[in-house]
Amino acid sequence: MDVYEAIASRKTIRDFAPQEIDLELVKRLICAGFNAPTNNHMREWHFVLLQDKVRRGELLDRAIKPVGRKGAMAIINRWGLTDDAQREMYRDAIPKQYSMLYNAGCLILPCFRQPTPLLKPKDLSALNPFASIWCCIENILVAAASEGIFGVTRIPFEAERNTFKEFLNIPEDYEIPCYLALGYPAEGAQRRRQVNISIEERIHFEVWS
Ligand SMILES: Cc1cc2nc3c(=O)[nH]c(=O)nc-3n(C[C@H](O)[C@H](O)[C@H](O)COP(=O)(O)O)c2cc1C
Repeated sequence: MDVYEAIASRKTIRDFAPQEIDLELVKRLICAGFNAPTNNHMREWHFVLLQDKVRRGELLDRAIKPVGRKGAMAIINRWGLTDDAQREMYRDAIPKQYSMLYNAGCLILPCFRQPTPLLKPKDLSALNPFASIWCCIENILVAAASEGIFGVTRIPFEAERNTFKEFLNIPEDYEIPCYLALGYPAEGAQRRRQVNISIEERIHFEVWS
């Protein structure tokens, strides 16, 4: 698969087959992550793998309260979303926030060193470590797609982030940008319809027109 095909095939999956990912393959994907660009040349990234399902369940129980379909609709309406594809995506996604993490063949918590307070950046450069880890995560997602493995990222709420940092012994100066759930798609796994984008309208020559 060439790189454009891998990029095009990467789509978020929230329904996973009950199949683990071979550890050597997980290492290869993380290795692809380490090829991403980095703000300070150091790639201060670590990856906590939550492989034990019992422990994973215990941690998720502490962190996430599942929301049902009705609750999801209430949230979507409260957010005032009007785009059909976007509403459809959230209608599918919100009730799966717990199950997608629990059922993933491999649940990874990427961690990056953030020497200054992440949520009180004094300028854009202070967010460079955060930007860099997302380059790394995208590399992993694209490499995974090329292997027939797909996944989803979830941004932890503050309480979740604190719970995980404490229980997983993550050093004070490291942050968790997201959960990274990877796995083989379940039969009939949903790939959500995307919002139509016209590239012509998004490219501006010399000045935003
Ligand atoms: C920064 C970021 C945060 C996201 N947060 C969540 C999340 O909390 N829960 C979730 O189910 N999906 C999350 N996603 C996945 C998006 O919903 C998904 O990428 C988007 O709908 C586009 O669909 P696609 O990935 O299939 O192209 C996130 C993606 C990104 C890049």
